[in-house]
Amino acid sequence: MSMSVPEQVSKRRTFAIISHPDAGKTTITEKVLLFGQALQKAGTVKGKKSGQHAKSDWMEMEKDRGISITTSVMQFPYADALVNLLDTPGHEDFSEDTYRTLTAVDSCLMVIDSAKGVEERTIKLMEVTRLRDTPIVTFMNKLDRDIRDPIELMDEVEDVLKISCSPITWPIGCGKEFKGVYHILRDETVLYQTGMGHTIQDSVVIKGLDNPELDEAIGSYAEDLRDELELVVGACPEFDHDAFLKGEMTPVYFGTALGNFGVDHILDGIVEWAPVPQPRETEERNVEPNEEKFSGFVFKIQANMDPKHRDRVAFMRICSGEYKQGMKMRHVRLGKDINVSDALTFMAGDRERAETAYPGDIIGLHNHGTIKIGDTFTQGEMMRFTGVPNFAPELFRRIRLRDPLKQKQLLKGLVQLSEEGAVQVFRPLDTNDLIVGAVGVLQFEVVVGRLKTEYNVEAIYESVSVATARWVYADDERELEDFRRKCSANLALDGGDNLTYIAPTMVNLSLSMERYPDIKFAKTREH
Ligand code: G4P
Repeated sequence: MSMSVPEQVSKRRTFAIISHPDAGKTTITEKVLLFGQALQKAGTVKGKKSGQHAKSDWMEMEKDRGISITTSVMQFPYADALVNLLDTPGHEDFSEDTYRTLTAVDSCLMVIDSAKGVEERTIKLMEVTRLRDTPIVTFMNKLDRDIRDPIELMDEVEDVLKISCSPITWPIGCGKEFKGVYHILRDETVLYQTGMGHTIQDSVVIKGLDNPELDEAIGSYAEDLRDELELVVGACPEFDHDAFLKGEMTPVYFGTALGNFGVDHILDGIVEWAPVPQPRETEERNVEPNEEKFSGFVFKIQANMDPKHRDRVAFMRICSGEYKQGMKMRHVRLGKDINVSDALTFMAGDRERAETAYPGDIIGLHNHGTIKIGDTFTQGEMMRFTGVPNFAPELFRRIRLRDPLKQKQLLKGLVQLSEEGAVQVFRPLDTNDLIVGAVGVLQFEVVVGRLKTEYNVEAIYESVSVATARWVYADDERELEDFRRKCSANLALDGGDNLTYIAPTMVNLSLSMERYPDIKFAKTREH
């Protein structure tokens, strides 16, 4: 009955969704889960209107806001595969966790609002996926509305995101006139039916482009489709699986998440083409998923997932071997073996005890402060996974105490919260300020809340004139020392005492980069 590790690996597809807020990520997640039958009926994941709360929502704060702070993990079967979908915090809850989640997946689904095209958040997230050349599947959403010209949309993806597009489906009409899509590889037309968004539809499929049934079904759109396709197929590159795996080409699908139309096409594409769990690098060697011995790394730490327990859970991506309940793991950084009897698996927010888990899966370890972002766990081997960096924050505030006597606790709290990845902290070399840096604005709120409940300090924020931060290095120690002396006013130490350039403006940063060509200004920093 039980499958070997290689068999388990071959079934897994682990991906995340990248999109700009409101492009339809939540709606797609909901429909994807419907296909995975994890939810009986795709209700609302966020429940903004219905008052129902999504299974992927955990924290009180999320309920108040109707948004999802946590990067929840959803596992479900689809076709012959077992799919892990890692949710990426998106609206105001956008944070460094969103970026780090992208380091723990093997592929991404990019969702674009077809009326708007490539938006700012998508550009940022794509930049992160480029660090690992993660394969990208693209979904052009909201075809039930009036959209931009599909060819223009694909051109924009190519120009802005520098990835070539190969359409797998092609839309027929849009808005009120949306008729369906033609699946180029299957040579069949799938007709769109309105009002079926909450169900898995028995889709009407017409085989062959020249089939007269097509003319009967969609009238003059059939002829237009034939003409258009001649052009599209001539102008667009054919889908090339290797180029996809290298992150150079994206298969493009069209549909409407709200109408649950086209979502199954993407899932079919992911199951067929997206990579199985990939080898991962450590400082010492490459780790293959099929290796017998267990290994994994922590990419996220979630505090207080369950308000009743006030616990912290470390999310670990398994990289090789098999996790078995009760097994012993080596916490490499501490050089200590720990017994793991109660790791969690995730079925759309239900926290269940995992008995076994395999490469590509995410498990949650209870954490009482000993686990940090980037930590490696093995069955004894002393190695360290790389590729789970800190990302340069984009928002900064000075943090100050209401009660100045608690400075020590404040610093301790901030350093611990930064180790956990909740926020980053910078201490300027020349002043006694404490500057907090975040990627998303909600991180600030979370930090003040946690400082109060966990460290008993009341802190407030003030604005500070910092536009961006870069970790600085030099091959030559003397160069760095010289730089440190001359630029001390713009230098700070982060939570791990790493030297950081905090630039008051982007212009200031470019000038300094020009002036000090031997200094490296890095946007990411490995733990
Ligand atoms: P996000 O998670 O990426 O932020 O997007 P979300 O799925 O919440 O979608 C944003 C809005 O766009 C929602 O409407 C949603 O219903 C709508 N939407 C998603 N997919 C489609 C689609 O294919 N067609 C159309 N017409 N709309 C779509 P809302 O009114 O802002 O939210 P809600 O109050 O309905 O939750």
